[in-house]
Amino acid sequence: MSEKKPFYITTPIFYPNANLHMGHAYVMTIADIVARYHRLKGEETYFLAGSDDNTAKIFKAAEEKGQSIPDYLDSVTLGFKNLYKDLNISYDQFIRTSDKEAHWPGAIKLWNKLVENGDIYPSTYEGLYCTACETFYTEKDLVEGKCPIHGTIPEKIKEKNYFFKLSKYSAKIKEEIESGRMEVIPVSRKNEILAFIDRGLEDISFSRPKHVVPHAIPVPNDPEQVMYVWCDALTNYISALGYGREDDSKFKKFWPADYQVIGKDILRFHAAIWPAMLLSAGLPLPKKILVHGLIMSGGQKMSKSIGNVIDPNELIKEYGADALRYYLARKISLFEDGDMTHESFKDVYNGDLANGLGNLVSRVMKMAQDNLSEPVYAETVFHKTLLSFMNEFEIQKAANHIWEEIAELDRLIQTKEPFKLVKFDPEKGKEIMRELVAKLKHISHSLAPFMPETSEKILALIKANKAPSEPLFMRKDS
Ligand code: MSP
Repeated sequence: MSEKKPFYITTPIFYPNANLHMGHAYVMTIADIVARYHRLKGEETYFLAGSDDNTAKIFKAAEEKGQSIPDYLDSVTLGFKNLYKDLNISYDQFIRTSDKEAHWPGAIKLWNKLVENGDIYPSTYEGLYCTACETFYTEKDLVEGKCPIHGTIPEKIKEKNYFFKLSKYSAKIKEEIESGRMEVIPVSRKNEILAFIDRGLEDISFSRPKHVVPHAIPVPNDPEQVMYVWCDALTNYISALGYGREDDSKFKKFWPADYQVIGKDILRFHAAIWPAMLLSAGLPLPKKILVHGLIMSGGQKMSKSIGNVIDPNELIKEYGADALRYYLARKISLFEDGDMTHESFKDVYNGDLANGLGNLVSRVMKMAQDNLSEPVYAETVFHKTLLSFMNEFEIQKAANHIWEEIAELDRLIQTKEPFKLVKFDPEKGKEIMRELVAKLKHISHSLAPFMPETSEKILALIKANKAPSEPLFMRKDS
Protein backbone atom coordinates (compact mmCIF):
# COMPACT_ATOMS: atom_id res chain seq x y z
CA MET A 1 0.00 0.00 0.00
CA SER A 2 1.50 3.30 -1.00
CA GLU A 3 1.04 5.99 1.65
CA LYS A 4 1.35 9.67 1.02
CA LYS A 5 4.34 11.27 2.65
CA PRO A 6 3.21 13.40 5.58
CA PHE A 7 4.32 17.04 5.62
CA TYR A 8 3.85 19.24 8.69
CA ILE A 9 4.37 22.98 8.72
CA THR A 10 3.75 25.28 11.68
CA THR A 11 3.49 29.04 12.13
CA PRO A 12 3.93 31.09 15.30
CA ILE A 13 0.73 31.47 17.25
CA PHE A 14 0.04 35.19 17.44
CA TYR A 15 -0.77 37.22 20.52
CA PRO A 16 -4.41 38.18 20.25
CA ASN A 17 -3.92 41.58 21.85
CA ALA A 18 -4.11 43.63 18.68
CA ASN A 19 -5.04 43.41 15.03
CA LEU A 20 -2.80 41.47 12.74
CA HIS A 21 -0.39 43.51 10.66
CA MET A 22 1.78 43.00 7.60
CA GLY A 23 4.34 40.97 9.56
CA HIS A 24 1.69 38.42 10.44
CA ALA A 25 0.34 38.40 6.87
CA TYR A 26 3.88 37.75 5.72
CA VAL A 27 4.60 34.63 7.75
CA MET A 28 1.16 33.18 7.01
CA THR A 29 1.63 33.78 3.29
CA ILE A 30 5.04 32.18 2.98
CA ALA A 31 3.93 29.18 5.03
CA ASP A 32 0.78 28.90 2.92
CA ILE A 33 2.77 28.91 -0.32
CA VAL A 34 4.92 26.06 0.95
CA ALA A 35 1.93 24.12 2.30
CA ARG A 36 0.08 24.46 -1.01
CA TYR A 37 3.15 23.37 -2.90
CA HIS A 38 3.51 20.20 -0.83
CA ARG A 39 -0.19 19.44 -1.21
CA LEU A 40 0.14 19.81 -4.98
CA LYS A 41 3.07 17.40 -4.88
CA GLY A 42 0.64 14.89 -3.39
CA GLU A 43 1.95 14.92 0.17
CA GLU A 44 -0.43 14.66 3.09
CA THR A 45 0.04 18.17 4.38
CA TYR A 46 -0.88 19.61 7.75
CA PHE A 47 -0.61 23.35 8.18
CA LEU A 48 -1.08 24.77 11.67
CA ALA A 49 -2.06 28.28 12.73
CA GLY A 50 -3.24 29.60 16.05
CA SER A 51 -3.34 32.15 18.81
CA ASP A 52 -1.30 32.53 21.99
CA ASP A 53 -4.04 33.23 24.50
CA ASN A 54 -2.67 32.73 27.98
CA THR A 55 -0.78 35.93 28.48
CA ALA A 56 -0.93 38.69 31.03
CA LYS A 57 -1.43 41.13 28.14
CA ILE A 58 -4.69 39.54 27.12
CA PHE A 59 -5.89 39.63 30.68
CA LYS A 60 -5.23 43.38 30.70
CA ALA A 61 -6.66 43.99 27.20
CA ALA A 62 -9.93 42.20 28.01
CA GLU A 63 -10.22 44.11 31.28
CA GLU A 64 -9.73 47.42 29.47
CA LYS A 65 -12.45 46.59 26.98
CA GLY A 66 -14.75 45.44 29.78
CA GLN A 67 -15.09 42.02 28.14
CA SER A 68 -14.76 38.54 29.57
CA ILE A 69 -11.60 36.79 28.41
CA PRO A 70 -13.46 34.25 26.20
CA ASP A 71 -15.55 37.01 24.54
CA TYR A 72 -12.49 39.14 24.00
CA LEU A 73 -10.56 36.21 22.49
CA ASP A 74 -13.47 35.27 20.24
CA SER A 75 -13.64 38.74 18.77
CA VAL A 76 -9.90 39.08 18.17
CA THR A 77 -9.36 35.63 16.72
CA LEU A 78 -12.32 36.20 14.40
CA GLY A 79 -10.30 39.08 12.95
CA PHE A 80 -7.36 36.68 12.45
CA LYS A 81 -9.52 34.14 10.71
CA ASN A 82 -11.12 36.76 8.47
CA LEU A 83 -7.73 37.95 7.34
CA TYR A 84 -6.63 34.38 6.61
CA LYS A 85 -9.80 33.80 4.62
CA ASP A 86 -9.33 36.97 2.62
CA LEU A 87 -5.69 36.12 2.01
CA ASN A 88 -6.54 32.53 1.01
CA ILE A 89 -4.52 30.94 3.79
CA SER A 90 -5.21 27.21 3.61
CA TYR A 91 -4.46 26.28 7.22
CA ASP A 92 -5.81 22.95 8.43
CA GLN A 93 -6.27 23.86 12.07
CA PHE A 94 -6.41 26.97 14.19
CA ILE A 95 -5.27 26.06 17.70
CA ARG A 96 -6.07 28.34 20.62
CA THR A 97 -4.06 27.84 23.75
CA SER A 98 -7.13 28.78 25.78
CA ASP A 99 -8.82 25.67 24.39
CA LYS A 100 -9.09 23.36 27.37
CA GLU A 101 -9.93 20.33 25.26
CA ALA A 102 -7.55 20.71 22.35
CA HIS A 103 -4.51 22.28 23.99
CA TRP A 104 -4.43 21.91 27.74
CA PRO A 105 -4.04 18.12 27.99
CA GLY A 106 -0.90 18.32 25.82
CA ALA A 107 0.58 21.19 27.82
CA ILE A 108 -0.08 19.34 31.08
CA LYS A 109 1.32 16.07 29.76
CA LEU A 110 4.50 17.75 28.58
CA TRP A 111 4.90 19.55 31.93
CA ASN A 112 4.54 16.23 33.73
CA LYS A 113 7.17 14.68 31.48
CA LEU A 114 9.62 17.45 32.37
CA VAL A 115 8.85 16.85 36.06
CA GLU A 116 9.32 13.08 35.71
CA ASN A 117 12.67 13.70 34.13
CA GLY A 118 13.73 15.86 37.08
CA ASP A 119 13.92 19.04 34.99
CA ILE A 120 11.45 21.21 36.92
CA TYR A 121 12.35 22.59 40.35
CA PRO A 122 10.95 25.34 42.59
CA SER A 123 12.97 28.47 43.18
CA THR A 124 12.57 32.20 43.46
CA TYR A 125 12.81 34.42 40.44
CA GLU A 126 14.11 37.85 41.10
CA GLY A 127 14.69 39.96 38.05
CA LEU A 128 13.17 41.71 35.11
CA TYR A 129 10.12 40.91 33.02
CA CYS A 130 8.79 42.59 29.90
CA THR A 131 5.06 41.95 29.65
CA ALA A 132 4.92 43.18 26.06
CA CYS A 133 7.14 40.31 24.89
CA GLU A 134 6.41 38.02 27.84
CA THR A 135 10.11 37.54 28.41
CA PHE A 136 12.34 37.37 31.47
CA TYR A 137 15.37 39.61 31.00
CA THR A 138 18.69 40.10 32.69
CA GLU A 139 20.41 43.52 32.83
CA LYS A 140 22.82 42.48 30.08
CA ASP A 141 19.95 41.83 27.67
CA LEU A 142 18.69 45.40 27.96
CA VAL A 143 19.56 48.31 25.70
CA GLU A 144 20.07 51.45 27.79
CA GLY A 145 18.06 49.84 30.55
CA LYS A 146 15.14 49.10 28.25
CA CYS A 147 13.59 46.04 26.59
CA PRO A 148 15.55 45.46 23.35
CA ILE A 149 12.33 44.89 21.41
CA HIS A 150 9.79 47.28 22.89
CA GLY A 151 12.04 50.02 24.26
CA THR A 152 10.07 50.03 27.50
CA ILE A 153 11.44 49.64 31.02
CA PRO A 154 10.82 46.07 32.17
CA GLU A 155 9.11 45.37 35.48
CA LYS A 156 11.21 44.24 38.43
CA ILE A 157 9.65 41.13 39.84
CA LYS A 158 10.37 38.74 42.68
CA GLU A 159 8.25 35.65 42.78
CA LYS A 160 8.23 31.99 43.63
CA ASN A 161 8.42 30.10 40.37
CA TYR A 162 9.20 26.71 38.96
CA PHE A 163 12.33 26.61 36.88
CA PHE A 164 13.17 24.46 33.89
CA LYS A 165 16.69 23.01 33.67
CA LEU A 166 17.51 24.52 30.32
CA SER A 167 21.23 24.59 31.13
CA LYS A 168 21.32 20.79 31.20
CA TYR A 169 20.58 20.66 27.47
CA SER A 170 23.12 23.16 26.12
CA ALA A 171 25.56 20.61 24.73
CA LYS A 172 22.89 18.34 23.30
CA ILE A 173 21.05 21.16 21.51
CA LYS A 174 24.30 22.45 20.13
CA GLU A 175 25.09 19.03 18.75
CA GLU A 176 21.63 18.69 17.18
CA ILE A 177 22.00 22.07 15.45
CA GLU A 178 25.61 21.63 14.39
CA SER A 179 24.97 18.19 12.97
CA GLY A 180 22.01 19.56 10.99
CA ARG A 181 19.64 17.04 12.56
CA MET A 182 17.68 20.11 13.59
CA GLU A 183 18.46 22.53 10.83
CA VAL A 184 18.31 26.25 11.54
CA ILE A 185 17.90 28.17 8.28
CA PRO A 186 19.52 30.49 7.20
CA VAL A 187 23.11 29.89 8.32
CA SER A 188 23.37 33.38 9.83
CA ARG A 189 20.61 32.46 12.31
CA LYS A 190 22.20 29.10 12.94
CA ASN A 191 25.42 30.89 13.90
CA GLU A 192 23.51 33.35 16.03
CA ILE A 193 21.82 30.65 18.07
CA LEU A 194 25.03 28.63 18.39
CA ALA A 195 26.81 31.72 19.72
CA PHE A 196 23.96 32.27 22.16
CA ILE A 197 24.19 28.68 23.37
CA ASP A 198 27.97 29.02 23.71
CA ARG A 199 27.51 31.92 26.09
CA GLY A 200 25.76 29.38 28.32
CA LEU A 201 22.07 28.60 28.62
CA GLU A 202 20.67 29.43 32.03
CA ASP A 203 17.75 27.69 33.68
CA ILE A 204 14.56 29.56 32.99
CA SER A 205 11.54 30.40 35.05
CA PHE A 206 8.68 28.30 33.69
CA SER A 207 5.73 29.40 35.82
CA ARG A 208 4.10 32.54 37.18
CA PRO A 209 1.94 33.17 40.22
CA LYS A 210 -1.69 32.49 39.38
CA HIS A 211 -2.89 35.99 40.25
CA VAL A 212 -0.77 37.50 37.43
CA VAL A 213 -2.44 35.43 34.69
CA PRO A 214 -5.46 33.78 36.28
CA HIS A 215 -6.72 32.25 33.03
CA ALA A 216 -3.43 30.49 32.17
CA ILE A 217 -2.89 26.74 32.51
CA PRO A 218 -2.54 25.61 36.14
CA VAL A 219 0.70 23.90 37.07
CA PRO A 220 -0.13 20.30 38.00
CA ASN A 221 -0.21 19.85 41.79
CA ASP A 222 0.23 23.51 42.63
CA PRO A 223 -2.93 25.62 42.54
CA GLU A 224 -0.95 28.80 43.20
CA GLN A 225 1.06 28.62 39.98
CA VAL A 226 0.28 28.76 36.27
CA MET A 227 2.54 27.84 33.35
CA TYR A 228 4.77 30.53 31.90
CA VAL A 229 3.20 31.53 28.62
CA TRP A 230 6.09 30.45 26.39
CA CYS A 231 6.20 27.02 28.01
CA ASP A 232 2.52 26.57 27.24
CA ALA A 233 2.68 28.28 23.82
CA LEU A 234 5.49 26.19 22.37
CA THR A 235 3.55 23.06 23.25
CA ASN A 236 0.84 24.08 20.76
CA TYR A 237 2.85 22.52 17.96
CA ILE A 238 2.21 19.06 19.39
CA SER A 239 -0.98 19.55 21.43
CA ALA A 240 -2.73 20.56 18.19
CA LEU A 241 -1.88 17.14 16.78
CA GLY A 242 -3.38 15.36 19.78
CA TYR A 243 -0.36 14.94 22.03
CA GLY A 244 -1.80 14.33 25.51
CA ARG A 245 -5.25 13.52 24.13
CA GLU A 246 -6.87 10.14 23.60
CA ASP A 247 -6.65 10.39 19.84
CA ASP A 248 -3.04 11.22 19.12
CA SER A 249 -2.96 9.68 15.64
CA LYS A 250 -2.08 12.99 14.00
CA PHE A 251 0.78 13.45 16.43
CA LYS A 252 2.08 10.03 15.51
CA LYS A 253 1.73 10.79 11.84
CA PHE A 254 3.03 14.35 11.59
CA TRP A 255 5.52 14.94 14.40
CA PRO A 256 8.38 15.91 14.07
CA ALA A 257 7.49 18.98 12.01
CA ASP A 258 9.17 19.40 8.65
CA TYR A 259 9.16 23.17 8.99
CA GLN A 260 8.63 25.48 11.89
CA VAL A 261 8.43 28.94 10.41
CA ILE A 262 9.24 31.83 12.76
CA GLY A 263 10.43 35.43 12.76
CA LYS A 264 13.97 36.24 13.87
CA ASP A 265 12.77 37.81 17.13
CA ILE A 266 11.57 34.48 18.51
CA LEU A 267 14.59 32.41 17.52
CA ARG A 268 15.82 31.66 21.06
CA PHE A 269 12.47 30.29 22.13
CA HIS A 270 12.28 27.97 19.15
CA ALA A 271 15.89 26.91 18.70
CA ALA A 272 16.91 26.63 22.36
CA ILE A 273 13.98 26.36 24.81
CA TRP A 274 11.64 24.31 22.62
CA PRO A 275 14.22 21.65 21.66
CA ALA A 276 15.25 21.41 25.33
CA MET A 277 11.65 20.71 26.32
CA LEU A 278 11.34 18.07 23.62
CA LEU A 279 14.63 16.44 24.60
CA SER A 280 13.57 16.34 28.23
CA ALA A 281 10.32 14.64 27.23
CA GLY A 282 12.13 12.21 24.94
CA LEU A 283 10.42 13.53 21.82
CA PRO A 284 12.01 14.10 18.42
CA LEU A 285 13.08 17.62 17.45
CA PRO A 286 11.65 19.52 14.48
CA LYS A 287 13.57 18.90 11.26
CA LYS A 288 13.92 22.51 10.15
CA ILE A 289 13.45 25.88 11.74
CA LEU A 290 13.01 28.52 9.10
CA VAL A 291 13.74 32.01 10.35
CA HIS A 292 12.53 34.97 8.31
CA GLY A 293 13.36 38.65 8.75
CA LEU A 294 11.05 41.48 9.69
CA ILE A 295 9.06 43.74 7.40
CA MET A 296 9.97 47.38 7.63
CA SER A 297 8.55 50.37 5.79
CA GLY A 298 10.78 53.06 4.38
CA GLY A 299 13.72 51.64 6.35
CA GLN A 300 11.90 51.84 9.66
CA LYS A 301 9.95 49.37 11.71
CA MET A 302 6.27 49.68 10.90
CA SER A 303 4.71 51.57 13.73
CA LYS A 304 1.59 53.58 14.36
CA SER A 305 3.49 56.53 15.77
CA ILE A 306 5.71 56.82 12.66
CA GLY A 307 2.60 56.45 10.51
CA ASN A 308 4.13 53.89 8.13
CA VAL A 309 1.88 50.96 8.96
CA ILE A 310 0.46 49.18 5.93
CA ASP A 311 -2.75 47.31 6.67
CA PRO A 312 -2.96 43.96 4.82
CA ASN A 313 -6.79 44.13 4.86
CA GLU A 314 -6.79 47.38 2.94
CA LEU A 315 -4.40 46.10 0.27
CA ILE A 316 -6.42 42.93 -0.19
CA LYS A 317 -9.61 44.96 -0.54
CA GLU A 318 -8.13 47.20 -3.16
CA TYR A 319 -5.83 44.88 -5.10
CA GLY A 320 -6.96 41.35 -4.23
CA ALA A 321 -5.28 38.61 -2.22
CA ASP A 322 -3.02 37.39 -5.01
CA ALA A 323 -1.41 40.79 -5.49
CA LEU A 324 -0.42 40.91 -1.84
CA ARG A 325 0.71 37.28 -1.82
CA TYR A 326 2.85 37.94 -4.88
CA TYR A 327 4.43 41.04 -3.38
CA LEU A 328 5.26 39.32 -0.10
CA ALA A 329 6.69 36.23 -1.78
CA ARG A 330 8.76 37.98 -4.40
CA LYS A 331 9.65 41.41 -3.12
CA ILE A 332 10.43 40.75 0.53
CA SER A 333 13.77 39.09 0.99
CA LEU A 334 13.07 35.96 2.93
CA PHE A 335 16.01 35.85 5.28
CA GLU A 336 16.69 39.54 5.79
CA ASP A 337 14.56 42.43 6.85
CA GLY A 338 12.35 43.45 3.95
CA ASP A 339 10.99 46.84 3.08
CA MET A 340 7.50 47.63 1.92
CA THR A 341 5.90 50.94 1.01
CA HIS A 342 2.63 51.87 -0.65
CA GLU A 343 4.61 53.27 -3.58
CA SER A 344 6.61 50.11 -4.20
CA PHE A 345 3.47 48.04 -3.91
CA LYS A 346 1.71 50.10 -6.57
CA ASP A 347 4.75 49.95 -8.86
CA VAL A 348 4.97 46.20 -8.55
CA TYR A 349 1.25 45.80 -9.06
CA ASN A 350 1.26 47.83 -12.23
CA GLY A 351 4.56 46.57 -13.59
CA ASP A 352 4.60 42.86 -12.79
CA LEU A 353 0.92 42.09 -12.57
CA ALA A 354 -1.34 44.45 -14.56
CA ASN A 355 1.13 45.19 -17.36
CA GLY A 356 3.16 42.02 -16.90
CA LEU A 357 1.32 38.77 -16.28
CA GLY A 358 -2.13 40.28 -16.91
CA ASN A 359 -1.18 41.64 -20.31
CA LEU A 360 0.57 38.46 -21.31
CA VAL A 361 -2.52 36.37 -20.54
CA SER A 362 -4.75 38.76 -22.52
CA ARG A 363 -2.46 38.72 -25.54
CA VAL A 364 -1.89 34.98 -25.65
CA MET A 365 -5.52 34.09 -25.05
CA LYS A 366 -6.81 36.65 -27.53
CA MET A 367 -4.60 35.10 -30.21
CA ALA A 368 -5.77 31.62 -29.22
CA GLN A 369 -9.43 32.60 -29.20
CA ASP A 370 -9.19 34.27 -32.61
CA ASN A 371 -7.07 31.65 -34.34
CA LEU A 372 -7.30 28.25 -32.70
CA SER A 373 -10.45 26.23 -33.07
CA GLU A 374 -9.72 23.93 -30.13
CA PRO A 375 -8.37 24.45 -26.63
CA VAL A 376 -4.72 23.50 -26.27
CA TYR A 377 -4.12 20.38 -24.27
CA ALA A 378 -0.77 20.24 -22.50
CA GLU A 379 0.51 18.20 -19.56
CA THR A 380 2.05 20.31 -16.84
CA VAL A 381 4.55 19.38 -14.19
CA PHE A 382 6.64 21.50 -11.89
CA HIS A 383 9.89 22.44 -13.56
CA LYS A 384 13.03 20.92 -12.02
CA THR A 385 14.43 24.32 -11.08
CA LEU A 386 11.20 25.30 -9.39
CA LEU A 387 11.11 22.01 -7.52
CA SER A 388 14.60 22.46 -6.20
CA PHE A 389 13.87 25.98 -4.95
CA MET A 390 10.56 25.05 -3.39
CA ASN A 391 12.02 21.98 -1.71
CA GLU A 392 14.52 24.30 -0.03
CA PHE A 393 11.92 26.89 1.01
CA GLU A 394 13.48 29.34 -1.44
CA ILE A 395 10.18 31.03 -2.22
CA GLN A 396 11.66 34.23 -3.52
CA LYS A 397 13.97 32.44 -5.93
CA ALA A 398 11.08 30.24 -7.09
CA ALA A 399 8.97 33.33 -7.80
CA ASN A 400 11.87 34.92 -9.67
CA HIS A 401 12.14 31.77 -11.75
CA ILE A 402 8.46 31.94 -12.71
CA TRP A 403 8.80 35.58 -13.70
CA GLU A 404 11.80 34.72 -15.87
CA GLU A 405 9.55 32.26 -17.69
CA ILE A 406 6.96 35.01 -18.10
CA ALA A 407 9.61 37.32 -19.57
CA GLU A 408 10.70 34.55 -21.94
CA LEU A 409 7.16 34.16 -23.19
CA ASP A 410 6.95 37.91 -23.81
CA ARG A 411 10.17 37.69 -25.81
CA LEU A 412 8.85 34.79 -27.82
CA ILE A 413 5.83 36.85 -28.88
CA GLN A 414 8.03 39.81 -29.76
CA THR A 415 10.54 37.88 -31.82
CA LYS A 416 8.21 35.45 -33.60
CA GLU A 417 5.21 37.77 -33.96
CA PRO A 418 2.73 34.90 -34.45
CA PHE A 419 -0.16 37.37 -34.84
CA LYS A 420 1.51 38.59 -38.06
CA LEU A 421 2.87 35.24 -39.14
CA VAL A 422 -0.57 33.61 -38.97
CA LYS A 423 -1.72 35.83 -41.83
CA PHE A 424 0.70 34.49 -44.42
CA ASP A 425 1.71 31.16 -42.85
CA PRO A 426 -1.34 30.05 -40.83
CA GLU A 427 0.06 26.63 -39.87
CA LYS A 428 3.33 28.03 -38.54
CA GLY A 429 1.52 30.94 -36.82
CA LYS A 430 -0.91 28.59 -35.08
CA GLU A 431 1.86 26.25 -34.04
CA ILE A 432 3.59 29.11 -32.21
CA MET A 433 0.31 30.11 -30.63
CA ARG A 434 -0.21 26.58 -29.36
CA GLU A 435 3.29 26.68 -27.93
CA LEU A 436 2.49 29.97 -26.20
CA VAL A 437 -0.69 28.59 -24.64
CA ALA A 438 1.12 25.43 -23.49
CA LYS A 439 3.83 27.55 -21.87
CA LEU A 440 1.24 29.81 -20.27
CA LYS A 441 -0.42 26.73 -18.85
CA HIS A 442 2.86 25.60 -17.41
CA ILE A 443 3.37 29.04 -15.83
CA SER A 444 -0.14 29.03 -14.34
CA HIS A 445 0.48 25.63 -12.84
CA SER A 446 3.72 26.86 -11.25
CA LEU A 447 1.87 29.91 -9.95
CA ALA A 448 -0.78 27.87 -8.12
CA PRO A 449 0.88 27.89 -4.67
CA PHE A 450 1.71 31.60 -4.95
CA MET A 451 -1.42 33.04 -6.57
CA PRO A 452 -4.11 30.38 -6.33
CA GLU A 453 -7.00 32.49 -7.66
CA THR A 454 -5.06 33.84 -10.63
CA SER A 455 -3.73 30.41 -11.47
CA GLU A 456 -7.24 28.97 -11.51
CA LYS A 457 -8.56 31.83 -13.65
CA ILE A 458 -5.85 31.38 -16.27
CA LEU A 459 -6.28 27.61 -16.36
CA ALA A 460 -10.03 28.07 -16.86
CA LEU A 461 -9.42 30.47 -19.77
CA ILE A 462 -7.06 27.99 -21.39
CA LYS A 463 -9.54 25.19 -20.94
CA ALA A 464 -12.25 27.27 -22.61
CA ASN A 465 -9.88 28.71 -25.23
CA LYS A 466 -11.06 32.20 -24.31
CA ALA A 467 -9.53 35.62 -23.79
CA PRO A 468 -10.33 37.22 -20.42
CA SER A 469 -13.41 39.42 -20.61
CA GLU A 470 -11.85 41.93 -18.26
CA PRO A 471 -8.26 42.54 -17.16
CA LEU A 472 -6.99 39.94 -14.67
CA PHE A 473 -5.57 42.65 -12.45
CA MET A 474 -7.77 45.59 -11.84
CA ARG A 475 -7.84 47.73 -8.72
CA LYS A 476 -11.21 47.21 -7.12
CA ASP A 477 -11.61 50.65 -5.62
CA SER A 478 -10.23 52.66 -8.49
N1 MSP B 1 3.02 34.59 20.58
C1 MSP B 1 4.39 34.63 20.18
C2 MSP B 1 4.76 33.41 19.35
C3 MSP B 1 4.56 32.11 20.05
S1 MSP B 1 4.96 30.78 19.04
C4 MSP B 1 4.86 29.47 20.04
C5 MSP B 1 4.65 35.90 19.38
N2 MSP B 1 3.59 36.49 18.84
S2 MSP B 1 3.60 37.83 17.98
O1 MSP B 1 2.23 38.04 17.57
O2 MSP B 1 4.23 38.87 18.69
O3 MSP B 1 4.52 37.54 16.75
C6 MSP B 1 4.28 36.46 15.94
C7 MSP B 1 5.19 36.39 14.76
O4 MSP B 1 5.01 37.55 13.95
C8 MSP B 1 6.67 36.30 15.09
O5 MSP B 1 7.26 35.26 14.34
C9 MSP B 1 7.22 37.61 14.62
O6 MSP B 1 8.52 37.48 14.11
C10 MSP B 1 6.27 37.96 13.51
N3 MSP B 1 6.29 39.38 13.25
C11 MSP B 1 5.91 40.39 14.08
N4 MSP B 1 6.21 41.58 13.48
C12 MSP B 1 6.81 41.36 12.28
C13 MSP B 1 7.23 42.15 11.20
N5 MSP B 1 7.17 43.46 11.22
N6 MSP B 1 7.69 41.48 10.09
C14 MSP B 1 7.68 40.13 9.97
N7 MSP B 1 7.27 39.37 10.96
C15 MSP B 1 6.94 39.94 12.17
O7 MSP B 1 5.78 36.27 19.26
